[in-house]
Amino acid sequence: MGRLTGKVALITGAGNGQGASEAYFFAREGAKVIATDIEFDRLTEVVNEINAEFPNSTIALKHDVSSEEAWIQVVEAGVKTFGNINVLVNNAGIATTTPYTELTFDAFQRTMSINAWSQLVGIRTVVPYMKQAGAGSIINIGSLASKINAGGFSAYTMSKGAVEAMTRSAAAELGPVGIRVNSVHPGGIATRMVTENKDITQEAVRQIEAALPLRRLGTADEVAHLVVFLASDESTYITGAEHIVDGGQWIQ
Ligand SMILES: NC(=O)c1ccc[n+]([C@@H]2O[C@H](COP(=O)([O-])OP(=O)(O)OC[C@H]3O[C@@H](n4cnc5c(N)ncnc54)[C@H](O)[C@@H]3O)[C@@H](O)[C@H]2O)c1
Repeated sequence: MGRLTGKVALITGAGNGQGASEAYFFAREGAKVIATDIEFDRLTEVVNEINAEFPNSTIALKHDVSSEEAWIQVVEAGVKTFGNINVLVNNAGIATTTPYTELTFDAFQRTMSINAWSQLVGIRTVVPYMKQAGAGSIINIGSLASKINAGGFSAYTMSKGAVEAMTRSAAAELGPVGIRVNSVHPGGIATRMVTENKDITQEAVRQIEAALPLRRLGTADEVAHLVVFLASDESTYITGAEHIVDGGQWIQ
């Protein structure tokens, strides 16, 4: 029996990076997975690979997390396929590398919509199903950027600050109905958000790594292992908490 056997999990942004790792580990631990992403072709490749190893474990749904209508559609389709939703991983996100002095309202609003508003809509769309089941675990992917000096990331930092605050208040509100809400705060993780970011040079990455206690970026899998734990019944007394996975950057 896997650590997530009997659970149905919706994971956003599952077409790449951390979300793809999470979908894989969730399926490996016995969960049924509703994997969603705005990049449907890429998501389909990921889901086909997962199903080749863990047959009928995972479905792929196209999803723009900033659209409330899209949330309603994917949640209904997921429940129709697997019967319920016990876990929500609000993982999809974009990085905005614009200094405060150059940030436009449109760029601010887009970043907030995809990184923060999406998570709120996701929570309120899945909660009725979790209430029915009498339990649920919601994992919001934030960032270390809401906690440290992250100059140059303006809207991104603000959106992740909203995720952090929302996690605490949602945990207080939903605890009494058996739903846990936690945030995960990755430091520098070697996904395309960092390795293919035109504003983050190889030299900048080397400097970040040299300053870290563990002297390297993290991997998507290293974040996914923490998310599996928070989704599982190994963490049933943990809610409203911030979980940092950063190679020690926070203590620098
Ligand atoms: N990589 C890092 O260093 C790092 C650090 C801290 C936090 N994070 C956070 O981790 C999460 C995952 O990022 P990642 O590192 O795997 O990056 P990634 O770019 O590999 O993956 C992000 C995924 O989100 C999807 N996405 C983007 N906009 C979307 C939308 N509107 N609707 C649905 N899906 C959308 C993308 O298609 C992609 O599959 C993000 O929330 C990110 O902010 C990343």
